[in-house]
Amino acid sequence: MQSISVNRVNYLKGSVHISGSKNACLPILCSSIITRGIVVLKNVANITDINDICDILRYLNCKVKRRGNRLKVDSTKIQYKSLNINKCSKIRGSYYLIPVMLYLFNKCEIALPGGCKIGQRPIDCHLECFQAFGFSTIIENNVLYIKSNQRKKEVLLSLSKKSVGASINAILCGLGCEHSIIENLVIEPEGLDLISFLKKIGFNISFLNNKCIIKSHKQDIKNRITYKIIPDRMEAMTFVILGLLNGRILIKGANPSHMKYPLDLLINAKYNLKITKKGILACKSRGNAFNIKTDIYPLFPTDMQPLFAILLAASRGMCVVDETIFENRMQIYYDLLEGGGQINVIENKAYITGVTEFSPKHFKCKDLRQGAALLLYIFTYGGSIDNIDIIKRGYDGIFYKLKLLGANFSLK
Ligand code: EPZ
Repeated sequence: MQSISVNRVNYLKGSVHISGSKNACLPILCSSIITRGIVVLKNVANITDINDICDILRYLNCKVKRRGNRLKVDSTKIQYKSLNINKCSKIRGSYYLIPVMLYLFNKCEIALPGGCKIGQRPIDCHLECFQAFGFSTIIENNVLYIKSNQRKKEVLLSLSKKSVGASINAILCGLGCEHSIIENLVIEPEGLDLISFLKKIGFNISFLNNKCIIKSHKQDIKNRITYKIIPDRMEAMTFVILGLLNGRILIKGANPSHMKYPLDLLINAKYNLKITKKGILACKSRGNAFNIKTDIYPLFPTDMQPLFAILLAASRGMCVVDETIFENRMQIYYDLLEGGGQINVIENKAYITGVTEFSPKHFKCKDLRQGAALLLYIFTYGGSIDNIDIIKRGYDGIFYKLKLLGANFSLK
């Protein structure tokens, strides 16, 4: 298990270029094999979750070649195989392969997905989708078995829960039937990127007001396309907050419109933050406290909640952070308490009084975004973190990018 320790807390200066979005690339990469052709993806982050999906596609007899942040996927010789393999149980995004396997082979056998331990992470809403499209689902010994009962030609489905992953899987299921209308979707910038990719392949998809209409005609599908993934808004916000905490950082290549709500909160709280043509400029400043309630897009994203915790713990005044999406995503507040924070955690709410004195501490990374938040802490106040491999799941070249900003640390 790798660990990091800060040798000296430096003021961080310079610019950083944001990589492609993990959560957009995962469903796009999985659905690329629908073409049974050649798909070139650009702006693909070099992170373990994406590389794990590449290995799974290779296991299915696809050719997947990476050159920098460009990925070429050749699925002309794809074969059906059981996906009851460790790579699938390691990550959450493996479940985007299910509707794709159903589209191609009318069946799927796959290990239940993994993912950060930020809650139970059930897949009941996903199972409802598969069943609504005419498939039977059985789970035995942590393996999901799906086969076609009577594939439906027309489907009208309203999701029973507000789920990003189930929304994406419902759309991917819709590709396999002639006409589907899917409502109560949660579509974030990453989901819109998938829809734009699927349209480029040749699917007829319209999306408006959380409702998707899909008219799928297999003969229209192109088998050679190139597509560029959107930038990662979570990585972008990570570096924005690092700049506000302890530096002068120009964040390049991000798309501010994908993070309007959280950026507006920071600007309204008088943080030194400018959105310029060159990028987002974040400079060390102490802003006013403000309340956060996580919600679905375009409101405050749950993945940014641990990142904002580090900033709010040192802000002027008092505030409340209310985590409404995941039932086990409050770890960062216990870490901050260790470092000197004035925080009271009651169930999924953190009551924060901003303080300025934090001391160097040793932490353990437990999930992706808490790990990223701990990096923000140690590069502002000093300290060290164990188990940082988790961070590489979602941040491309983060330690190289930190070095370029003047961070002084050792990895071991
Ligand atoms: C996606 O997870 C992202 N992961 C998460 O990012 C992100 O935090 C989350 O969406 C919310 O935005 C990927 O895209 C790979 P959900 P997902 O289904 O799809 C409950 C990161 O750090 N639920 O929207 O798993 C669920 O328990 C990761 O990049 C059910 O009850 O999230 C949760 O409480 C962390 N039944 C809520 O819905 C289901 O069948 C939202 O989950 C599905 C979900």
